[in-house]
Amino acid sequence: MKILVTGGTGYIGSHTVVELVKNGYEPIIVDNLINSKESVLGKIEQICGVYPKFYNADVCDEEALEKIFSENEIEAVIHFAGLKAVGESVAKPLEYYSNNIFGTLVLCKVMKKYGCNRIVFSSSATVYGMNNTAPYTEEMPTSATNPYGQTKFMQEIMLKDIAYANPEMSVALLRYFNPIGAHESGLLGEDPNGIPNNLMPYICRVADGRLACLTVYGNDYDTPDGTGVRDYIHVVDLAEGHISALKYLEANKGVLTVNLGTGKGSSVLDVVNAFERVNGVKVNHKIGERRPGDIATCYASTDKAKEVLGWEAKLNLDEMCRDNWNFIVKNR
Ligand code: NAD
Ligand code: UD1
Repeated sequence: MKILVTGGTGYIGSHTVVELVKNGYEPIIVDNLINSKESVLGKIEQICGVYPKFYNADVCDEEALEKIFSENEIEAVIHFAGLKAVGESVAKPLEYYSNNIFGTLVLCKVMKKYGCNRIVFSSSATVYGMNNTAPYTEEMPTSATNPYGQTKFMQEIMLKDIAYANPEMSVALLRYFNPIGAHESGLLGEDPNGIPNNLMPYICRVADGRLACLTVYGNDYDTPDGTGVRDYIHVVDLAEGHISALKYLEANKGVLTVNLGTGKGSSVLDVVNAFERVNGVKVNHKIGERRPGDIATCYASTDKAKEVLGWEAKLNLDEMCRDNWNFIVKNR
């Protein structure tokens, strides 16, 4: 079964492509390489023996998408393509609204034209906003506080409306918590350009000496050690969640909204300590000011994912730290 994976050379997309092949699907990737490299395709082949079919194209390009759909009988789409840096989205809202919103609109339009009715969408725990209390359940109210979050919030609404108008549609809105880690081979992972914003990539840069010191953004939150608590999830577990969602959509119509997290909260210092212990490296850190827009605690309720998808995360924080560092060491 052919599955179009938009953003399939990216961090989560590449791990999902591997899982698709392992589960007997035929992934077809479309990516404009704005935040990934074509060399990922060879790495996917090294892991699972298949060099995926690849189109270097933008999902906002209707003609290019039409070509892909006309050349391949696509049964479902997993839609990862999008821009994802919160800070950058505040500085460049036009780019974010245009890429994320317009890209999804064009994709849905072409899917409709070619009678493709199944889509798995990368949403984010960011849609729970600042006013809910963890554990977050899927029926809690959603909101957004920055342009990136707004695009996820709006894309969810758009996809729900499109599904409402077409009873043949099956949509999975997957709300990811904090994906970290890497493929155990060390071939796939994430090492962002420039100075990282997210915790794990920053820790890796400090551990390998490229950055001097991690600033812990606040230790006066109402959490066990005062530092921010998040639900870190191994990217391979997350990728497997997409296979469960695809299978669910094969059997069910309508819209499914579901969290993909572990249900366990870890503080910034928990992550730093686990990383140092598991990898035998030092992560210099100091306590700094809170980062504007951060919340104290964010973790998932995982009941619905277990119940509806039969999926739950298996890998723990130590394994996330081990695999993340292995990827960095092998790709320095
Ligand atoms: P990523 O940047 O590694 O992957 C996204 C891929 O999409 C990249 O390969 C990029 O080149 C491609 N892309 C971007 N715009 C495109 C366009 N217009 N046309 C074609 N390709 C395009 O990011 P990721 O971490 O793998 O995230 C994948 C998705 O999951 C994104 O939608 C992101 O918002 C969402 N998400 C990520 C996280 C996270 O922490 N990584 C958390 C929640 C949700
Ligand atoms: C951030 C985004 C969120 C996005 C997610 C995944 C913000 C406000 N939120 O979430 O919308 O979906 O990334 O891309 O940007 N931390 C430090 N020092 C650092 C970096 C982070 O102490 O140098 C702390 C943060 O305060 C937080 C935790 O580490 O408590 C995790 O931070 P991060 O990895 O940026 O993820 P989120 O803030 O959860």
